[in-house]
Amino acid sequence: MGGDDMAPILLVSAAALVDVDGRVLLAQRPEGKSLAGMWEFPGGKVDPGESPEHALIRELHEELGIDTWESCLAPLSFASHRYSEFHLLMPLFVCRRWAGQPHGREGQALRWVRPRDMRALPMPPADLPLIPALIDLL
Ligand code: C5P
Repeated sequence: MGGDDMAPILLVSAAALVDVDGRVLLAQRPEGKSLAGMWEFPGGKVDPGESPEHALIRELHEELGIDTWESCLAPLSFASHRYSEFHLLMPLFVCRRWAGQPHGREGQALRWVRPRDMRALPMPPADLPLIPALIDLL
């Protein structure tokens, strides 16, 4: 067994916020963060003892200023990607109902994108395999 197998696991919850036209919200990772400039499904790290759903509800509030509820989160797919520093495990939840207007509270740019148009954007490698499930769904 090599050292590569010992990468810590990072659990992140991500959302596909879907609007009435079937477009999905992507957020651009800001300068100074890893993968800066890439367009990601919004979300963030799951804290110890926290459920993925509650982590996502918290992160969507902190990052985008919107509120949603566990009953509005439907699991769609799951990403597993080995970055150099950690192995990312990332469930993707579809969300069609929330309160408030999403805005980048941490300065991140936002855009609504049809899943079939996502391949034209730079996205984190962990996020790319999630696109086909969204194309099928929408
Ligand atoms: O957003 P944050 O930096 O806390 O996310 C931790 C890591 O998870 C990022 O460095 C990035 O590698 C990864 N990530 C991702 N796709 C997302 C969200 C996070 O690959 N949609």
